Amino acid sequence: MIQTIQTSPIAGQKPGTSGLRKKTPVFMATPYLENYVQAIIDGIGGVEGRTLVVGGDGRYFNDTAIGVILRMAAANGAARCIVGQGGLLSTPAASHLIRKRKADGGLILSASHNPGGPEADFGLKYNGPNGGPASEAVTDQIFARTQDLTEYRIWEGDAPDIGLLGEAQLGAMVVEVIDPIADYADLMESLFDFAAIRTLFADGFRIRFDAMHAITGPYAHEILENRLGAAAGSVVNGTPSPDFGGGHPDPNPIWAHELMAAMYADDAPDFGAASDGDGDRNMIVGRGCYVSPSDSLAVLADLAHLAPGYAGGLAGVARSMPTSAAVDRVAAAKGIACFETPTGWKFFGNLLDAGRATLCGEESAGTGSNHVREKDGLWAVLLWLNILASTGKGVGQIMSDHWARYGRNYYSRHDYEEVNSDAAGALIADLRAELPALAGKSYGALIVDSADAFAYDDPVDGSHSAGQGLRVFFTNGARAVLRLSGTGTAGATLRVYLEALETDPAALHHDPQAALADVITAIDAIAGIAARTGRQGPDVIT
Ligand code: G1P
Ligand code: ZN
Repeated sequence: MIQTIQTSPIAGQKPGTSGLRKKTPVFMATPYLENYVQAIIDGIGGVEGRTLVVGGDGRYFNDTAIGVILRMAAANGAARCIVGQGGLLSTPAASHLIRKRKADGGLILSASHNPGGPEADFGLKYNGPNGGPASEAVTDQIFARTQDLTEYRIWEGDAPDIGLLGEAQLGAMVVEVIDPIADYADLMESLFDFAAIRTLFADGFRIRFDAMHAITGPYAHEILENRLGAAAGSVVNGTPSPDFGGGHPDPNPIWAHELMAAMYADDAPDFGAASDGDGDRNMIVGRGCYVSPSDSLAVLADLAHLAPGYAGGLAGVARSMPTSAAVDRVAAAKGIACFETPTGWKFFGNLLDAGRATLCGEESAGTGSNHVREKDGLWAVLLWLNILASTGKGVGQIMSDHWARYGRNYYSRHDYEEVNSDAAGALIADLRAELPALAGKSYGALIVDSADAFAYDDPVDGSHSAGQGLRVFFTNGARAVLRLSGTGTAGATLRVYLEALETDPAALHHDPQAALADVITAIDAIAGIAARTGRQGPDVIT
């Protein structure tokens, strides 16, 4: 029986960089989730007769929320929901499933790399029929609907058990519970030279893949250990838990410090990698050699043709604006297009759909290709493994060779977390006002060449996105970028992105913080970061 429940708009249900993220108790307080789901359904023009993919990263409240979503989809006339068994689907696997099954869209439950649990974070986002995050036009419609919602529809009675594979009815809607791993593992097998990687492992190559107690555990067990023959135990922290083992499932040197320690130890494995809460991010570490995500993107763009799925070369590459220009240098050498987009994967969708970019990446540990419409953690790990197997080189050698050929874009991101929102807003507003006057001024060793606020004109659909970060370029080619995070759930997070190009062969192996010292000093003098945030230094350096 369909119930129509009266409700009223809830303030602040505005999707951010990647869907709506809030504290778990906020989402759990009825009708917070219900309102948002109805706003998605109405915002995309209804779901009558449609097929949706539903799944999440298994964090606390995942299964209960899926029950609500299924009951609401049924009450709104959906024909079918395809659900990962146990409510689990990594974000890239969900994207693949939407495409493979030609679904009309999907609802992905995740707050990505944010911690999970009753007091931590929860999130929900809508992906469209191309498998990618909804465009800004669609998220604007969803947000508009949250502001004039008067009722929501929900099926009375329980949703079927999503722990059991197979089909069940919920009213007139079919709930189809599927194996969340098989389709995705098959896709990976179609892109990479599994035989070569299997030989690598058979010859004694050792990998440590840290799933950080999150969604990629079962995927990595199947692909790395079962299909590719990596030694048992290569996948660590491989059982998903609702609070990610009490950890912070963000694959960077800070939060994946266990992996860093293992990779910098005397008996380190040959290759280390990690992924995040929902499986779309990746971290790559060689023996004693951490690879920055911007460099990883550049290496993958350079050598992707070694994998069968990319043997024909790349149509073009794309990176988010704050990501370093390392990949630009590869694209220039190859004579292929390089697009610079705002932060967030949704901006890559049009370029991928139009066949103008094959590989995309962000400095925040996101890399992916046209095989799905999300970034993809395990995909990046497998492409690296394919490259190592094809070249016979180690990670450290690959990086040295890359920098020797292209120069090194030293790079770091400094995050100031839970800053007072007003102070952070004022910092950005004041800097924006000052940008036109910066050119020609010197700060320590550096002179400002130009400064602007980044805006993007989508070359495919012509849409315009303004306010996407402030950029200061220095005359020596260095750059600093400032923007506020759109994924946080408490206060404001100020992100400061620092980059300096080095082409002197004698200076390619320095510590990035030392190599960036001049840029760090200059941007603090320009923006007054320490004074305005009241912080001595950043909370997280990656
Ligand atoms: C962050 C990253 C961004 C990424 C997003 C979703 O967004 O910076 O690159 O696309 O998470 O994973 P932010 O918090 O900076 O808005
Ligand atoms: Zn993620």
